[in-house]
Amino acid sequence: MPVIERIADYADDLVAIRRDIHENPELGMEEVRTAALVAGLLNEWGITTHTGIGKTGVVGVLEGKAPGRTIGLRADMDALPIHEQTNLPFASKNPGVMHACGHDAHTTMLLGAARYLAETRDFNGKAVFIFQPAEEGLGGARAMLADNLFEQFPCDEIYGMHNKPNGEPGTVGVKPGIAMAGADFFDITVNASGAHAAMPHVSIDPIVIATSLVQQLQSIVSRNVPPNSPLVLSVTQIHAGSAYNVIPSQCTLSGTMRYFDTALANTVRQRMRDLCRGAELSYGVQIDIDIRDIFDVLVNDDALSHTMLDVAAEIVGADQVQVTPDAVTGSEDFADMLRAVPGAYCTVGHEGTVPLHNDGFILDEGILPVGASIYARLIEKRGTPAG
Ligand code: NI
Repeated sequence: MPVIERIADYADDLVAIRRDIHENPELGMEEVRTAALVAGLLNEWGITTHTGIGKTGVVGVLEGKAPGRTIGLRADMDALPIHEQTNLPFASKNPGVMHACGHDAHTTMLLGAARYLAETRDFNGKAVFIFQPAEEGLGGARAMLADNLFEQFPCDEIYGMHNKPNGEPGTVGVKPGIAMAGADFFDITVNASGAHAAMPHVSIDPIVIATSLVQQLQSIVSRNVPPNSPLVLSVTQIHAGSAYNVIPSQCTLSGTMRYFDTALANTVRQRMRDLCRGAELSYGVQIDIDIRDIFDVLVNDDALSHTMLDVAAEIVGADQVQVTPDAVTGSEDFADMLRAVPGAYCTVGHEGTVPLHNDGFILDEGILPVGASIYARLIEKRGTPAG
């Protein structure tokens, strides 16, 4: 695979960095060691480094050889609350925390590009390296934006990427336009009235009400959402009770909604509230409903999607890149950055086949120089003003 030769020459260094991060995973907003490692390397390579942006986020800025455009590249640094079961020699030393989504590799690929660009400086304009915390539903992108990321470091375009364990190393895909779902998380708490289980008539049983609500919530997608508009509403948790002979006084339902159409999502949120209100009236209980907007819909800029594919084709070959046909119901908080600055987000395939977020996920390290080369070439190509 014709990755940039200079990057291929230090692929072993990238593997070492990645394994170091993999062994020492940190949850969202706790990436203190990882951020220090990133900032240390950027500084070592002579890149102006800013820390503490969005709590543990790091931004590096590198000027090219001549004025031009500013291109942002973004990687995520956080791990997941999963106990690693890979038996790798460099498996997580932090029990219950694992880089099961490959963000260790994303961070390493961006570091690889930063080192190359700092050593060669063969580009115009400015490169902004964005290392964000807390991608896994904990609001890292929004935290950086709230810290005025793009006011401090204005970018003309931004790019991001995610590894894809599809068994097809070096394949690159971008879905122009709407690419990934927006996501809400929700908690619904039925506050009823507990009693001895032998005397249900003196209780108002929250479990009966909550299970009925689960069924009613299923009616929203089937009856209120147009069949040609994909939307997912999943109840993923039910919590109540602690004894065989006690009707509890509370039951909590939790779950997630995934959507591509924001107006439709608002309709669904309202239906959820209405159904809860109906259950309150029907059963004489009080229901708390907390619906939290966690991820925006990820929208890739049409033209820049093709730009990213063209640049990737220079690295992995034209036969290895393709327009991804369908949007996916997964979510990604780079979506919020793409609302502020146009850009694109690609997937890079690798030899691994165990799914992301699985405790046996193994990343193919062959992806490291590939991702670093795509990032580096984006800066070399896009920093020069057109015409
Ligand atoms: Ni991820």
